Amino acid sequence: MLKNKKILLGITGGIAAYKAAYIVRELKRLGADIRVIMTHSATQFITPLTLSTLSQHEVIVSLWPESTHESTDLGVRHVDLGLWADLMLILPATANTIAKLATGIADNALTSTALSIRSPLLIAPAMDLDMYRHPATQHNIGILQERGVHILEPESGDLASGLSGPGRLPELQPILEKIESVLAGTKKDLEGIQVLVTAGPTYEKIDPVRFVGNRSSGKMGFAIAKAAAQRGAEVTLISGPVLLETPQGVQRIDVDSAAEMFQKVQREYEKHHVIIMAAAVADFRPASSAKQKIKKTNDRGVPELKLEQTEDILRFIGEHKDSRTVIGFALETENEIDNAREKLEKKKLDYIVINNPTEEGSAFGSDTNRINILGKNGKIKEYPLMSKFEAAHKILDCING
Ligand code: CTP
Repeated sequence: MLKNKKILLGITGGIAAYKAAYIVRELKRLGADIRVIMTHSATQFITPLTLSTLSQHEVIVSLWPESTHESTDLGVRHVDLGLWADLMLILPATANTIAKLATGIADNALTSTALSIRSPLLIAPAMDLDMYRHPATQHNIGILQERGVHILEPESGDLASGLSGPGRLPELQPILEKIESVLAGTKKDLEGIQVLVTAGPTYEKIDPVRFVGNRSSGKMGFAIAKAAAQRGAEVTLISGPVLLETPQGVQRIDVDSAAEMFQKVQREYEKHHVIIMAAAVADFRPASSAKQKIKKTNDRGVPELKLEQTEDILRFIGEHKDSRTVIGFALETENEIDNAREKLEKKKLDYIVINNPTEEGSAFGSDTNRINILGKNGKIKEYPLMSKFEAAHKILDCING
């Protein structure tokens, strides 16, 4: 599969740069044609001579000719290489280069080429765990992912700093597999699967202008719908009132209240294989709503609001699920795991996604989230702070086990 593939390898300045030599050697052995571009910082970790010997081609470090006697053709080689490549792989990708890619900065040969390429871009972030977990880095990775850049996630383990956690470059085999899967086309593992997603808040009417609601932005549910559609699923999105654009290829149904959402979910769920309830459905609604706006100048003084419980949509789905996969959400501010486990069992779910809106980076309306996913088998997967789009992919990964 890699035979005669043209792979442009960009190396940035992290300690894992030395591992690039093994990648080049292996890719060559498998018949690929490799060109290497390095940042100046990368040359602190591994020499261009090593890489040019292994790749059997000149290694590019500078955008500019080494001397004025060199050919002026060098001025466009980042464009030429961008057109030449079947795939550009940046390995390791430092936090600095990831930030530049996210903002489109082109201040060296590598980042200029990354802006010129027409073929897929795959990056392998590798750095110290705190740099990797930093909201800035996670946000930038999220931006790249939304733009269609492929990410080879770092592994967890001992790091060069002596700390232990996520940030380590994966071993050779997972790197080769990822290159192959990107070359084979974007992941389409949800083709033929119908996914129903709910998102956003619900508004429960007090009168024609007032409501009881909550602060959900709908971003998590919309990210799930978008990611599922990109992975080939047929997606129906039932959304409460939000200010978000419908993701491409997604069929959207707008609702206002919990009762309306319940009605639409009941109508839709049978057609779907997977149901993901990301909506923050109001648990209570006014027992009755006024037909006309309640005036403050009436004889009865300040009105009292009597609440009643809304339908638990997820519980209904859990009870009627048959062979469907049902994923719920738990918004918890304390005893997260125990409360979520109780919900998972009570509502007969396959997975429950736990998040805590009081945690840094996971607030309502934010673009990032730190989630844990608890399965009915009792296993829990913990994730660092990441973009909601990336979290959406983690949630979708549960579908195929
Ligand atoms: N949910 C639902 N219908 C409701 C309330 C919640 O379908 N009326 C779904 C949400 O979409 C979410 C999950 O249930 O996937 C968790 O909701 P939450 O309100 O956190 O849990 P509750 O069981 O209502 O428990 P509590 O309010 O006590 O935390």
